Amino acid sequence: MTNRKHPLVFAHRGASGYAPENTIVSFKKAMELGADGFELDVQLTKDNEIVVIHDEWLERLTDGRGFVRDYTLEQLRQLNFNKNFPEYGVQRVRTLREVFELVKDSDIEVNVELKTGIFEYPGLVEKVLALAEEMDMKDRVIYSSFNHYTCVKIRELLPDARIGFLYGDVFIEVEQYVKDHGGDAIHPAFYLLQDPIHAIKAKQLGLEINTWTVNEPAYMELCCQLGVDRIITNYPDVALGIVEKFKSSN
Ligand code: G3P
Ligand code: MG
Repeated sequence: MTNRKHPLVFAHRGASGYAPENTIVSFKKAMELGADGFELDVQLTKDNEIVVIHDEWLERLTDGRGFVRDYTLEQLRQLNFNKNFPEYGVQRVRTLREVFELVKDSDIEVNVELKTGIFEYPGLVEKVLALAEEMDMKDRVIYSSFNHYTCVKIRELLPDARIGFLYGDVFIEVEQYVKDHGGDAIHPAFYLLQDPIHAIKAKQLGLEINTWTVNEPAYMELCCQLGVDRIITNYPDVALGIVEKFKSSN
């Protein structure tokens, strides 16, 4: 457990308020803006490569159609992963290995969210853990998932992994549940922290609090007051400004 006096700032899907989400430019932008880390989402291709993409399907984010898992990496590489930020031109899918290569020589932390909620992606957990080990990223990765069986599996395979349980709805005694299932951190949607009792309970249990997706300055301020450990945001520069203000007034 940390007794951090102020939150760290993590860029959600990279600095996705400014650049196409989960692309190399969004991760570079996060680093340029001074984020402490970034969050990204991973899935498996048809040929079992770990790719960085949020949706299970291609339509929202690319010029392709269908499911990610039905394409090989080479096929996915033909697609444009930039639909919303013309200033960044064509962007290609990235593997987790490529993103780890980008940050290897920095002190950036990476929150790897395993997207096993719709498709199970057998082998994804093992592959992600092996890659982090191979690339000496083990100590700089926080693993998270909405699929809590995935969280438990990570704990079984890597006892000292840092693991966050994601959730976006109200659960009874969620902090105790996360603790009982081997979590190190709660990863709630930010609106679930409005009642301070949740932050208090998490702290009492020695759990970190990493919350998403906090894009409004007022909620960023609330995160500071509550003792949140990591603010996950599309606008890391805004959050860094709020955290600085909080630090200087405390
Ligand atoms: O990991 C935080 C956040 O990314 C969880 O939701 O849907 O943006 O992946 P989502
Ligand atoms: Mg995510």
